[in-house]
Amino acid sequence: MRRLTFLLLPLMVALLFTCSNEPVEFTNNYNIIPFPQSLQELEGQFVLNDNTTLAALGADEGVQRIVSDFAEELRSKSDLELPVSTGVLTAPISFGLDPSIENPEGYTLQITADEIQARASTAKGLFYAIQTLRQLLSNAGGDVWYFSAATIADAPRFPYRGMHLDVARHFHPVETVKAMIDQLAYHKMNTFHWHLTEDQGWRIEIKAFPKLTEVGAYRDGTLIGHYNDQPHQFDGKRYGGFYTQDQIREVVQYAADRHIEIIPEIELPGHAQAALAAYPELGCDGGPYEVWQKWGVSDNVFCPTETTFEFLEKVFDEVVELFPSKYIHIGGDECPKTKWKESAFCQQLMQEEGLKDEYELQSYFIRRVESYLNSKGKQIIGWDEILEGGIAPNATIMSWRGIEGGIEAAKAGHDVIMTPTSHCYLDYYQSDHPDEPLAIGGFLPLEKVYGYEPIPAELSEEEAKYVLGTQVNLWTEYIPTREKLDYMLFPRLCASAEVGWTEERDFSGFVQRLIPHMTRLEEMGIQPANHLYDIKSSISGGSGIVQVDLQALAKDATIHYTADGTVPTTASDVYPGPLNVTNTATIQAQCFLDGEAVGRPWQQQVNWHLAAGGGINLVEEPHPKYSSGGRTALINGINGSDDRYGDAEWLGFDGKDCVAIINMGTAKTLSQARFRFFKGEGQWIYLPKSIKISASPNGRMWVDVGQMGAVQGDTKVVSTAVSLQSVSAKFLKVEIENYGIIPEGEQGGGNPAWLFVDEISIY
Ligand code: ACM
Repeated sequence: MRRLTFLLLPLMVALLFTCSNEPVEFTNNYNIIPFPQSLQELEGQFVLNDNTTLAALGADEGVQRIVSDFAEELRSKSDLELPVSTGVLTAPISFGLDPSIENPEGYTLQITADEIQARASTAKGLFYAIQTLRQLLSNAGGDVWYFSAATIADAPRFPYRGMHLDVARHFHPVETVKAMIDQLAYHKMNTFHWHLTEDQGWRIEIKAFPKLTEVGAYRDGTLIGHYNDQPHQFDGKRYGGFYTQDQIREVVQYAADRHIEIIPEIELPGHAQAALAAYPELGCDGGPYEVWQKWGVSDNVFCPTETTFEFLEKVFDEVVELFPSKYIHIGGDECPKTKWKESAFCQQLMQEEGLKDEYELQSYFIRRVESYLNSKGKQIIGWDEILEGGIAPNATIMSWRGIEGGIEAAKAGHDVIMTPTSHCYLDYYQSDHPDEPLAIGGFLPLEKVYGYEPIPAELSEEEAKYVLGTQVNLWTEYIPTREKLDYMLFPRLCASAEVGWTEERDFSGFVQRLIPHMTRLEEMGIQPANHLYDIKSSISGGSGIVQVDLQALAKDATIHYTADGTVPTTASDVYPGPLNVTNTATIQAQCFLDGEAVGRPWQQQVNWHLAAGGGINLVEEPHPKYSSGGRTALINGINGSDDRYGDAEWLGFDGKDCVAIINMGTAKTLSQARFRFFKGEGQWIYLPKSIKISASPNGRMWVDVGQMGAVQGDTKVVSTAVSLQSVSAKFLKVEIENYGIIPEGEQGGGNPAWLFVDEISIY
């Protein structure tokens, strides 16, 4: 299908006067998110008036319901009567079924000055036509409402467009869940993945096991601050909540009315400590267990006994009755094998079943659950760990640790939903501004969510057909309130909606449409994060200068900047393009729109040193997820965040050493090297075991000029200095040794540690 890429042009502006002589102004706009596959702008507008009527053609009750809901919304805005007819008689605004439209979620819209015709082969397609109309509806002044004329032919790129919400780390009530379902519908997303059980709380009433909610839905306290803040402190307050089965039914119906399928997740075999607290006999060592008060991955998991399987089958008997969805999500992620290794029962079971290790035991667990759910007519979805030890025969994989799980599953002929942390985890920071509210870590700005391509390049056209779509995930360790939930979800969810729907994407067009869309979100009671006018910097170097390039996502603002320590105003210099820095400096900048400061002030300190802006090579590349600033970030004179390792300044090495060869351009006399390291043992980030520095006049002959043993420190960012022999050198080799394997008993025990390095400053 051909898509016209222009969005706002030509602007059709017409000035009229209403009977009350109030001026009205028609400006055609097409600010639709997700953007339709094909939209042809037309001249003119359809203006709602006293004679406007709507028709739900045909007898389909689903169509009649959505049309009457839409008419009600139009009435509440316009104060017009807008009667709805059903049957065969058409009307200026008509909705009808047209079986020739192939995609069951597709629709067409013809909007002219005289009529609006929406057609689709299903009520769902017409529902999406209505979402487009809701976004096209504009106010011309006073009580005059209109739709910009257009011809639209639309259908989604992917059949699965989802959002996940963890209501276990923090409980979010029915009203919040319904508000999110409204938003999914508004953005033409069709799946809500409801993560209902966890170590920190069991949130769904199960009649056969009342203690799951009496005991498992409440914890005696919650971790304060971030998991990385040591020592851990707890608030000591009882916290919890759950949904009754009546509430679940109510939400499922609410979602179905909006053409959204809810997929419940009941986590197994890991993330089950709340269930174990209620029924300790389900664990391997008898407990006692508490509903967990902190975050992370608990060692206390379901034991694969017949008691556990009987328990799970009874739980699923109730779950499948409550949720009409095709799928049940059974978790399967992050299941430590510690307790299974220690359990005589598990070891004997493995022998009896011919299972070679605990991964195969996990696979045995998942297969048993899958076969039960298949017998109930349900398909399972599991996180990508269920590939380990052998995938269950009919399982769909949710690829989260990266895209590799998705690739492996698609190649093996299994359906896949792509939801990698790198592009889909909305619990990650969305801005590197120091005022950002606490988040789990990482860095996932709006443009990165938008830039996601769900089909991995490694898949052939045939294999790619197994990719059903994509989903954003919201884990709520650090999201206790509705306000914070909105902040983390919006507008990144809008970007994901377009990834799942629109074939041909264009980020700057998206941002243009997002500016008015943000106001619509606010009118619906959503409190989105607005970083459109925050300044973002990209920093480069390598030839003896540090280049600072500034921009904001929204292009309708002007950036003013200073480098003399004063706060920028409209009288300050307009930012002219990349700034070359060759000395210690503080640069400040601010966006202005119509003379008013918009977005947050931006400031960057550059601390000049002998290697600043120099050339740098790395023997081992950092992990692609943690290297967005490139290797020059290590010597650009700029410190990364003191709280987070996900920004462009920090480089993360997974299990590897950081070995850097630095070219300072000319020979310089050395005295000291300074380093900054991140420490976050809960997130597997450890301080280095040793540091060694060698110097060379030519990059061939090296002499040792300084070293130190294990770096010590208890803060999140640990700074350390190494004295250097006072020699003259042009080249430096810096060898920073990774901590190695994380000790057993710690988070991530047995896995290689991460090493995070920020600035290497040479004096
Ligand atoms: C996950 O984020 N543990 C699936």
